[in-house]
Amino acid sequence: MNSLVTGCAGFIGSWLSERLLELGHEVIGVDCFIDYYPRGMKEMNLKPLRGNENFLFIPYSLLNLDLNEILKDVDYVFHQAAQAGVRHSWGRNFGVYTDNNILATQRLLEACRNSDVKKVIYASSSSVYGDVDSLPMKESDLPRPVSPYGVSKLAGEHLCHLYHKNYGINSMSLRYFTIYGPRQRPDMAFNKFTRAILNDKEITIYGNGKQTRDFTYVDDAIEANILAMKSQQKDGVYNIAGGSKTTVNDCIKILEEIIGKKAIVRNIETQKGDVKHTYADTSRAAKDLGYKSKVSLREGLEKEVEWIKSIESV
Ligand SMILES: NC(=O)c1ccc[n+]([C@@H]2O[C@H](COP(=O)([O-])OP(=O)(O)OC[C@H]3O[C@@H](n4cnc5c(N)ncnc54)[C@H](O)[C@@H]3O)[C@@H](O)[C@H]2O)c1
Repeated sequence: MNSLVTGCAGFIGSWLSERLLELGHEVIGVDCFIDYYPRGMKEMNLKPLRGNENFLFIPYSLLNLDLNEILKDVDYVFHQAAQAGVRHSWGRNFGVYTDNNILATQRLLEACRNSDVKKVIYASSSSVYGDVDSLPMKESDLPRPVSPYGVSKLAGEHLCHLYHKNYGINSMSLRYFTIYGPRQRPDMAFNKFTRAILNDKEITIYGNGKQTRDFTYVDDAIEANILAMKSQQKDGVYNIAGGSKTTVNDCIKILEEIIGKKAIVRNIETQKGDVKHTYADTSRAAKDLGYKSKVSLREGLEKEVEWIKSIESV
């Protein structure tokens, strides 16, 4: 089996590439090292992949590649590449989001038309929902993103669907709910909180810390991709979440217990684009894909803390 993983040097793409190699796939990885966070971290993510003879790394942007050529013998496309980050997506930065999240997705789908790709699995996001009227968030809710990032991820989903409808390209969108674990991006809360507690630095919380999130351990998200690949489904959107509904304040308490130190917390005003709560109904993924999260928040956080300690001491 041959797979293409876009964004293979990133947090989720690197773990997914490793898992596919374990399953015996030949993996082509594409990543252009966009400068949202340091390239050194992405090089670290790539390290276990680089030496594998079944892994081919292409360090270019999806926007500048001959994708027809790359997709020649590819069976499955795992499209993880994107400009991530909700707060960063306002103002002039939006162009980076339209290029890497919308245009790059359209170019990839367009190239699939001339290929024998069996399925495209698209990394979507809970941010497509915005602030819903009632929780849990269901795929049948009307998506109304409250950030430009969410708009760009929703556009990607729509592109997947319309290329399915019009050109028969099988594509599934997995709406990830806040993924965490080793290699988590440095701009994400658990990574920032852990480094701050370890180094006696202040943690900044947007709002009163009572906002809740459904956190998903990265292995569960990777498993969802494998289940989506294997499933008979040819189209559709799926919530992929961990099942926790935890306040930011409670997450800090768990981190304090794991690290054995008190956090220094400062609350500042809520940021534009942040939703108040996320909590997923994952019954569709359970029914159609057999998805069930396996890793508890505490267990997953212990692994992330262990990883941050190991890289901080390098
Ligand atoms: N981490 C989360 O909690 C989360 C939640 C919801 C959705 N997602 C989605 O999951 C995917 C992976 O997220 P992540 O947290 O691993 O982010 P990440 O930033 O660590 O990885 C994304 C990678 O894509 C690469 N990339 C971006 N544009 C590219 C392009 N045009 N061509 C080639 N490479 C390109 C970047 O260099 C980066 O290494 C993204 O699509 C993101 O929107 C993530």
